Amino acid sequence: MEDFRIESVLVTGSDRGIGLGLVLEFMKLPHPPQLIFATCRNLESPEGKVRRKQTETEIVPAFTKLGAILTLFSKNVTDPQSIKAAAEEVQRYLTGRGLALLINNAGIAYKTTLASETAQTMAAVYTTNTLGPMRVSQTFLPLLKRAAPKFTCLGKSCFKAAIVNVSSSFGSLAAVDEWKWCQDVGYRCSKAALNMLTKCQSLVYYPFEIVCVSLHPGGVQTGLGAEKGGN
Ligand SMILES: NC(=O)c1ccc[n+]([C@@H]2O[C@H](COP(=O)([O-])OP(=O)(O)OC[C@H]3O[C@@H](n4cnc5c(N)ncnc54)[C@H](OP(=O)(O)O)[C@@H]3O)[C@@H](O)[C@H]2O)c1
Repeated sequence: MEDFRIESVLVTGSDRGIGLGLVLEFMKLPHPPQLIFATCRNLESPEGKVRRKQTETEIVPAFTKLGAILTLFSKNVTDPQSIKAAAEEVQRYLTGRGLALLINNAGIAYKTTLASETAQTMAAVYTTNTLGPMRVSQTFLPLLKRAAPKFTCLGKSCFKAAIVNVSSSFGSLAAVDEWKWCQDVGYRCSKAALNMLTKCQSLVYYPFEIVCVSLHPGGVQTGLGAEKGGN
């Protein structure tokens, strides 16, 4: 990680879980990004207020000491208006520069089986886990495009511009991971679709030298799967 240097990164769903972990790890890098955009769904909810307070009192001061900026603002990945507002705010911070790295991390899961899955739960996970990254990437594309040409090295590189879609091994058709213990059918389908979205993005965004990848973060003990509506 010694050589890993990017100017800016935006992480969706970064008020807790893996998203928050990513933000904290970026801050610890030998050369942290100058701009970290940590976004969360609802800063005004009671939980959002508690998290914002914690972020403002603990995380932001630590980060400011590094001479960089961390900003936290609201972005619901299922709400196009909220995504647009976030993009406008990010653009103001970037002052003409591009966004180097977009991490589509926000996600939900319902504990379901094939028998208990409903149209409602399936549509909800698809809306967040698949449509969310598609809409967020579409909206931030102009900023990602602006980041890549700044670097003169040949070919695509995550140092230029990249979209990372946080997927899951549950979305793999080959692995069908942990099927014996949890089916979570809607979640699996949403992540399989996300993997295909990543493939499509990589084909379409190739000329702009934007790297597009799906990654499985590994099993992490978080609040994922606590959504109501499934089993
Ligand atoms: N944990 C694992 O073992 C594991 C394994 C494989 C893949 N993943 C993937 O990793 C990602 C992060 O999961 P996690 O384990 O960190 O889950 P988590 O602790 O439940 O955190 C999920 C995050 O996504 C946010 N979010 C949910 N819906 C949103 C929306 N509509 N708009 C904006 N933010 C939204 C949540 O915000 P709120 O706080 O407002 O709810 C929260 O910040 C997910 O994409 C998940 O599928 C996790």
